[in-house]
Amino acid sequence: MGRTLLSLVGLLFLSCHASITGAKKGVTVEAKGAKLHAKYRDPKQPIDVRIQDLLGKMTLEEKVGQMAQLERQNLTADIIKNYFIGSILSGGGSSPKKNANVEDWVDMVNNFQNAALLTRLGIPMIYGIDAVHGHNNVVNATIFPHNVGLGVTRDPLLVKKIGAATALEVRATGIPYAFAPCIAICRDPRWGRCYESYSEDHVIVQEMTQIIEGLQGEVKTDMKGMPYVLGKKKVAACAKHYVGDGGTVKGINENNTIVDQAGLFGTHMPAYLNSLAKGVATIMASYSSINGVKMHANRDLLTGFLKEKLGFKGFIISDWEGIDRITYPPHSNYTYSIQASILAGVDMVMIPYNYTEFINGLIDLVKKNVIPMSRIDDAVTRILRVKFATGLFENPLVDYSLINKVGCMKHRTLAREAVRKSLVLLKNGKPGKPPVLPLPKNANKILVAGTHSHNLGYQCGGWTIEWQGVSGNNWTAAGTTILNAIKATVDKSTQVTYRKNPGKNFFKKNNFDYAIVVVGEVPYAETRGDSQNLTIPDPGPNIIQNACKAIKCVVVLISGRPVVIEPYLDTMDALVAAWLPGSEGQGVSDVLFGDYGFTGKLARTWFKRPDQLPMNHGDPNYDPLFPFGFGLETKPTTQHNKRIEL
Ligand code: GLC
Repeated sequence: MGRTLLSLVGLLFLSCHASITGAKKGVTVEAKGAKLHAKYRDPKQPIDVRIQDLLGKMTLEEKVGQMAQLERQNLTADIIKNYFIGSILSGGGSSPKKNANVEDWVDMVNNFQNAALLTRLGIPMIYGIDAVHGHNNVVNATIFPHNVGLGVTRDPLLVKKIGAATALEVRATGIPYAFAPCIAICRDPRWGRCYESYSEDHVIVQEMTQIIEGLQGEVKTDMKGMPYVLGKKKVAACAKHYVGDGGTVKGINENNTIVDQAGLFGTHMPAYLNSLAKGVATIMASYSSINGVKMHANRDLLTGFLKEKLGFKGFIISDWEGIDRITYPPHSNYTYSIQASILAGVDMVMIPYNYTEFINGLIDLVKKNVIPMSRIDDAVTRILRVKFATGLFENPLVDYSLINKVGCMKHRTLAREAVRKSLVLLKNGKPGKPPVLPLPKNANKILVAGTHSHNLGYQCGGWTIEWQGVSGNNWTAAGTTILNAIKATVDKSTQVTYRKNPGKNFFKKNNFDYAIVVVGEVPYAETRGDSQNLTIPDPGPNIIQNACKAIKCVVVLISGRPVVIEPYLDTMDALVAAWLPGSEGQGVSDVLFGDYGFTGKLARTWFKRPDQLPMNHGDPNYDPLFPFGFGLETKPTTQHNKRIEL
């Protein structure tokens, strides 16, 4: 038996042995797939040479397997091996176990990867997750403000640093791919996902695509659509949801965006050009439609414009069961869903569970020449290009070396800075009265009231630990509620009283110097956040009225978007829009008490009444309560000019 063959057999045994035992905790097991000396295994070869070499070796089954992304639940090593699965995801809240630690994540990803490396060609799988405001599925991760607040900062450098911090925490758990950023242009706050949008204004959203360079690495020249991921501390990003997801009728999620060419290419599209210039590795198709054409079946925009006209070279991924929803009822003609989406240009399909139906269905359509092999080869070429660019072939397995990055103080300090800059001061003192903010730290007795003043889950919002978000403080040891932040800020001599939901009588028996009232929306995600009335949920309005009619009050509003506040505005002495600030509530008290000044300017129009919607700056009859760009300022009482360097 020749040396080469012997060494190959030996290696095969080694790799099997290593993978069957599974990667020992924290140990990087050198995974060696078959055909070690093939060109596609050689990192010195140009990526396209490696792709063509590998593609030429692949069977139809192996190619179609690369196009399938399955959810981690119920997934086994056998499924990965037998169906040559190319990608796995954690849907919102899908973690290895409840309160999983970072090691649990690393071990889970390594175990799936070892199964993928056992396949004939040893193609590594790519694991994806929604890290949309930090690594938000992971307990103790740094939770940054949602995009609705980051757009207010108008600080691309800050957002780029947030991308870099997020990439580090995602990689620390062994994951090389994040379904972020959402670059939707939310044109109607009735949309349940408006908080995932940086702004109603595409120019701000274009600036915020800097986060892609934080996530993937800084490009030196225009990447012109070529995927670019710089090493083991960066992740492949995903600009989503292509295109026009934020422009649907009445903000109804996944609905129809009726738009002319100017609206489509002038408002909803520009940020995708910025994303391609920054080398975004993947783009996710939107559930929504453009002028009645489902985006998941929209060949003109997926292939004609994005791939052929703009030259996008990464891969297009469907949304969760996105191809099923091409038809109504969803999944009512799955063969058509597969045919329409793949022919339109979708390259990888997020099939949480019914993978055999997809894989067998697609193989059948290729064998019947309904879908040409050239389309499959194009999709697999794009997927392999991203996998090579992400370094997965050289480093398919991970160790524990980055685990201390998750929730580290440097990231929390950065998040605290982002919170400060995301706050918008909408009112500061009643007419003819002096400003209320910044508040004195040395008051005798203050009240902190409201359902959102001591609830980490509420201040983080949706897409946090669970898909729909959580309530309470017991899901993470780290993170600071607004109440605890205030307690840490005021003088020791100041008595801080906390009441979640104080009634009228409570104020008759107590005299406070002032009250800080923190109320707002409870967490939601996607369609569950759609709202036609945009009211502050009870008991928020009552708490505002009870407190503000009794004593001087500063209202801090926790919400994913502008909500109805006009009826209560006159009773408030001051009003702060804090959006969904995330884990670092200290950033709120930093500004309330003058350690930093208010600088934030609205990145969204604040309407008077929902019947005015949709209403965006530049519209005729523009009659907001607070216009786009509005924000009062205060001077800090202490000087700070140190920027956080990551
Ligand atoms: C969801 C969302 C998308 C997310 C995906 C995976 O339905 O639309 O933003 O990336 O599924 O969780």
